[in-house]
Amino acid sequence: MADEPRLRRPFTGQGLPAAPVLQRQLYTAVCYCGKCSCKVEAVAIVLYLGAVTIKLEDLVVGYRGPQGTTLPILRIPAWELPPQQAVCVTGPSGSGKTTFLNVLAGILLPQAGRVLYGDVDITSLAEPQRDVFRARHIGYVFQSFHLLPALTAIENVALSLSLAGHGVQEARARAFALLERVALAHRANAYPSTLSVGEQQRVSIARAVANHPKVILADEPTANLDIHTSDGVLALLTDVSAECGSNLILVTHEERVMAHFSQTISMADICVSDASQTEVSSGTSTGAKGGLGAFL
Ligand SMILES: Nc1ncnc2c1ncn2[C@@H]1O[C@H](COP(=O)(O)OP(=O)(O)OP(=O)(O)O)[C@@H](O)[C@H]1O
Ligand SMILES: [Mg+2]
Repeated sequence: MADEPRLRRPFTGQGLPAAPVLQRQLYTAVCYCGKCSCKVEAVAIVLYLGAVTIKLEDLVVGYRGPQGTTLPILRIPAWELPPQQAVCVTGPSGSGKTTFLNVLAGILLPQAGRVLYGDVDITSLAEPQRDVFRARHIGYVFQSFHLLPALTAIENVALSLSLAGHGVQEARARAFALLERVALAHRANAYPSTLSVGEQQRVSIARAVANHPKVILADEPTANLDIHTSDGVLALLTDVSAECGSNLILVTHEERVMAHFSQTISMADICVSDASQTEVSSGTSTGAKGGLGAFL
């Protein structure tokens, strides 16, 4: 199919709305029947998140055990991150950092409580809506990357841009520019299985920031990198979050990474400590959700 204009995104970079807004957009699309080349005018109602406060309220998160019981891993009575702020999250292995990010991303549903982006409670959204919300607004650097193995580095980055409405040429050009930012232009056509762990990590970082996300979640994004590359990655994450007015929540064990942040919290600071003691009602099904949206 020709690279036709698709949905345009008026709010990128500077000049972002201060609060969530609904905007009516006119765009041109080509007929998808494959037999004709009709162009249609279409209208989309798009939610722009703007700069938001992220809030967790009365949160209980657990994983279902073999007997159907659910042991809570996290209990967070209240936590809040004001708009456009960056915070570094620390804690020992197993303290729930990845679980915390998965709940913020709407990949994992809590047993109780709410996860609010401004006025939008993502726990109340159906799974497809949560996937769309995540694809539009959240850039997630996964601890284990989740690159699609059948796609090259540039295709992994360009896919998330195409799914957000960019044309093929534009998506590839922007994907290449991002790979240049993480010093991987020379490996743009390599498949994940042929990349080093640090290179895969950098592709996943380029993919996470590609759509100017309003929230960047980064799970130990420098864990496999040398100091020089790690500094480049931190600069990219902080530059993109400053450009987009995003919230940045970054998990790390490294003291030199913590030193880049004015705010550092430990899981012990935000969780109440009886988390591993009491079973909770397992009315709501939890677990990592599949689907392409989870990888965007
Ligand atoms: N799918 C799952 N089912 C059951 N328990 C799980 C599951 N995923 C994680 N856990 C448990 O939840 C706890 C928190 O795990 P999590 O991965 O969030 O920790 P973490 O702080 O990110 O650790 P690390 O620093 O090693 O990455 C651990 O005790 C872990 O064993
Ligand atoms: Mg983890």
